[in-house]
Amino acid sequence: LATSNDAEQNFIQCLIESTELTTPITGAIYTPVNSSFPTVLQAYIRNLRFNESTTPKPAIIVTALDLSHVQASVKCAKKHKLLMKTRSGGHDYEGLSYVADDPFFILDLFNFRSINVSIEDETAWVQSGATLGELYYRISEKSSTHGFPAGVCPTVGVGGHFSGAGYGNMMRKYGLTVDNIIDAELVDVNGKLLNRESMGEDLFWAITGGGGVSFGVVISYKVNLVRVPAKVTVFQVRRTSEQNVTDVAHRWLRVADKLDNNLFIRMVFDVVNNTNGEKTIRASFPSLFLGNTTALINIMDESFPELGLQRSDCQEMNWTQSVLWYYNFPAGSPDSTLLSRIPRSLTHLKRKSDYVKKPISKQGLGFIFKRMIELERPGLTFNPYGGRMAEISEFAKPFPHRAGNIAKIQYALDWPENGVEAANRYINLTRVLFEYMTPFVSKFPREAFLNYRDLDIGVNNNGKKSFLEGTVYGVKYFKKTNFRRLVKVKTMVDPDNFFRNEQSIPTLPSSW
Ligand code: FDA
Repeated sequence: LATSNDAEQNFIQCLIESTELTTPITGAIYTPVNSSFPTVLQAYIRNLRFNESTTPKPAIIVTALDLSHVQASVKCAKKHKLLMKTRSGGHDYEGLSYVADDPFFILDLFNFRSINVSIEDETAWVQSGATLGELYYRISEKSSTHGFPAGVCPTVGVGGHFSGAGYGNMMRKYGLTVDNIIDAELVDVNGKLLNRESMGEDLFWAITGGGGVSFGVVISYKVNLVRVPAKVTVFQVRRTSEQNVTDVAHRWLRVADKLDNNLFIRMVFDVVNNTNGEKTIRASFPSLFLGNTTALINIMDESFPELGLQRSDCQEMNWTQSVLWYYNFPAGSPDSTLLSRIPRSLTHLKRKSDYVKKPISKQGLGFIFKRMIELERPGLTFNPYGGRMAEISEFAKPFPHRAGNIAKIQYALDWPENGVEAANRYINLTRVLFEYMTPFVSKFPREAFLNYRDLDIGVNNNGKKSFLEGTVYGVKYFKKTNFRRLVKVKTMVDPDNFFRNEQSIPTLPSSW
């Protein structure tokens, strides 16, 4: 167990000698001298941009086996002033759960994966290191008419996803993941285990959308399950320039947030070659309807006939199969596919986000499509809001993007090449498109979604200017009122800013 630095040595010593351990911790500590260190580190790196030889590596990884390991990690790291990064599923788009510029260790929670579903109470307790797929599968084992409104990618971890708000294709019916959380367990800065009652409503509010990382280590969440029909309907249709893509997209922007709450129609733009080999825009509409085909066709005929949805485009299946379908698993994949922790593909990626509050004109769409064709690579995904999202107050949770939003945009670019030069080139393309989109999206602030982590919108050096730096990205992720409340909670529960990262919630300066 050798590391180069005194703080790290002392930290390890402190862990081993900790008197409160309920099981030995030695087997859970990895340093670079362990041959399995790279494997443990890479097991949950979900963005290859941060798997380069030049990527800063942790000095230590603690793969906590029980609660006492988490508590000891927090206490010893605080005592020996070692930066801690908490990792659950490792899907942070900027790698913040396993990369830092200062010396650091990873508290890895992949062993915390128990899930207890009670259909009687219509609730579940789920630990942070579980994946969304595992949660969906455990629900499906007990009921074919219950589900949970969380993300569409089954390997995403509960810890980051739930604490950062979480959304999926049932959002218009049931709101965000955090709108359905009813309790939580959190290890605080003193190593104490708290639940909703003992942490109080302010801290509970903060860790349901404000990012757990600023406030403690989330051990588990208790959620309300939601009811889904025995059969739901899915469809995927595509339109290109030859098929009036601009008209269809324009109509989508007018209706997508006003459709029946049971209907979620995503709109994804990418650049493809047409039959003449010319670059053109394609819009794809992967969709979920919580009802049957007949009801869906009636809604579409009335509200969105421009899409031209046909009965033959639709497939009915149970909700669990729809989760697999939505993430493009081959038809007939068994439900147990959801248990796999290995992503189907791993790549280098960059994501950014925006909010659309006014329909974009046909002319505006034309400009955007032209620019996308010039840039070729970045894609845009529009996620429709409205429905339940517009009914919940923007102060109910730290996530403020509620009524008044038509859609959230995700900018996406994936690339296969290693190296900083390729990364810079591709990342720059997303930035160019983001700049170009300025007239079409929210302003003052230009809002952003925490779970679509983007360091371009501001970073914190956690020094003297921490509060001002934090305000820059804080008001984009949370808007002013919620950001202020998060700062207040942070200042109360972690005044020395132990729980921090490049975009954590700052404490209030003592002079204020
Ligand atoms: P990871 O372990 O990297 O953690 C993310 C952040 O949370 C880090 O800052 C980390 O330190 C902190 N953290 C993690 N566990 C914690 C804990 N127990 N206590 C305190 N802090 C903790 N989002 C969405 O809303 N809907 C979607 O459909 C998708 N789809 C999607 C697909 C793919 C392929 C990716 C890569 C990402 C998404 N996301 C998403 C974004 C996703 O919700 C976001 O990246 C989550 O933070 C990931 O959570 P993990 O636990 O996997 O990440």
